[in-house]
Amino acid sequence: MASALPERIIAHRGGARYAPENSLAAFRMAAGQGVGWVETDVSLLGDGTPVLFHDADFQRLAGVAGQVRSANWETVRQLDIGGGWGDGFRNTPIPHLDAALTEITRLGIGLNLELKVHFDEQAALVEAVLGALDRQAFNPAHLLISSFDPESLRRIRDRRPALALSYLCQGIPHDWRGIAERLDLVGFNADYRHVDPASIGRLADAGLQAYVYTPNRADVVAPLWPAGLAGVITDDVYAF
Ligand code: G3P
Ligand code: MG
Repeated sequence: MASALPERIIAHRGGARYAPENSLAAFRMAAGQGVGWVETDVSLLGDGTPVLFHDADFQRLAGVAGQVRSANWETVRQLDIGGGWGDGFRNTPIPHLDAALTEITRLGIGLNLELKVHFDEQAALVEAVLGALDRQAFNPAHLLISSFDPESLRRIRDRRPALALSYLCQGIPHDWRGIAERLDLVGFNADYRHVDPASIGRLADAGLQAYVYTPNRADVVAPLWPAGLAGVITDDVYAF
């Protein structure tokens, strides 16, 4: 089993409380705040380009219409996701995965890379991500790949047996032990609102890492730490 272990605090979308989500500016902010790991979402554009982007369309973050699945990089690279953030983040671009990996490496932090599946693009997404990781010779000890989509995780596992994988879920699935064995997981990343100390404890007792997303106050996860919670994926790293 792979054994990359992130720290107790992972900055969600790079730390979405303090900078435009999934931007290089957010990663730099998180590193400056002393955070050791960031979580970010990778999506595949229609032309096959892997970019850091959460949504299936550009309206919320860039203020323009258009679907990720039908977009091309030449257009997307000109969008601004810093518009709502004031002068300090004006002209914040959507990063190409290559640029993100370069910056993460330069900053010396770890990466929880979440594979976002918006349509039926798992095979192309996985190949694009592995290609980017290879181009950068990205350090596998600084990488945790996660997804809500088991097919994407299975494809990564088939291609790269040593990479650390975590299954994203709301509550811990009933068949967590079988899923963990089949995908050779290091753990599960669950919604903090759908777990309790007992479910976290079962994972910890089985040697699996349990992370929760996206608590932004310490008190809402306090009972989970004694049960063996490995860490939190949070927008607000100062809350912990
Ligand atoms: O990886 C944890 C969290 O990011 C999953 O939800 O929608 O914020 O990507 P979402
Ligand atoms: Mg995410």
